[in-house]
Amino acid sequence: MAPEPLLTLSGVTAGYGAGLILKGVDLEVEAGKVVCLIGPNGAGKSTVLKTISGLLRPKSGTVRFRGEEIGQLRPRERLLRGVVHVPQDRSLFPEMTVWENLIMGAFSLSDGAVVKQRAEAIAEDFPIVTSRRNAQAGSLSGGEQKQVELARSLMLDPALILLDEPSIGLDPKSRVSVFESIRTLADGGRTVLLVEQNARSGLQAADKGVVLEAGRVALTGTGDALLNDPEVARLYLGAASHVSLEQVEVADGAA
Ligand SMILES: Nc1ncnc2c1ncn2[C@@H]1O[C@H](COP(=O)(O)OP(=O)(O)OP(=O)(O)O)[C@@H](O)[C@H]1O
Ligand SMILES: [Mg+2]
Repeated sequence: MAPEPLLTLSGVTAGYGAGLILKGVDLEVEAGKVVCLIGPNGAGKSTVLKTISGLLRPKSGTVRFRGEEIGQLRPRERLLRGVVHVPQDRSLFPEMTVWENLIMGAFSLSDGAVVKQRAEAIAEDFPIVTSRRNAQAGSLSGGEQKQVELARSLMLDPALILLDEPSIGLDPKSRVSVFESIRTLADGGRTVLLVEQNARSGLQAADKGVVLEAGRVALTGTGDALLNDPEVARLYLGAASHVSLEQVEVADGAA
């Protein structure tokens, strides 16, 4: 029997007032994988992440993490169990240095020596942390700040990292760095649930893709399967002419 996924959402409904935004979301995230959630604006992608990290509590349904129901726990309790949320907006303290921001990620640890050791180890994977260690975080570029946010998210040694639109607003080079960092996280044994507007890059970096439409999961498949799905290409991969052309060629070859 396959092991239980690290994270399982079953029939999750949630909203911000009387109405429901999530209308019964079922989602499984297997340990060590990168799962990419795509879908139109307003579909509820960020809301899904909030129900997992605890910024929002489901109205019904369950959020199981490592075999435990966490759906009604406070954000801090979920963080201490290993769920970290990197929101879409810039979240560093701009007046503090890069290094101070990194240390803030370990707020619940009291042993300064352990914190320092962990920060040094993480800095090895995120060169910007070392090279701009004493710079004010607000003086870094968007892409550099995103790298520091990713580094900071690791300070409590999370099992599951929720990333909301990590590549938004970044130039192509920074975008590539972010996706490389995401792969590195997964290769290091962490699990990543990623929301991406750059659906093509997100699905390329992902083991599994999930399409959310109007508060429900409309489609699930391997990253490759979704990249090659004509409907997904038409709706979500933008500038799809290149893909369509490839598909025409494949179809021609098969005929
Ligand atoms: N704090 C809030 N209060 C009230 N309504 C909200 C709040 N946050 C989101 N919503 C509404 O919930 C719906 C889903 O929002 P959500 O942010 O989850 O979508 P999304 O799929 O992440 O969209 P996007 O791609 O634009 O980021 C939207 O209609 C939005 O207006
Ligand atoms: Mg969003």
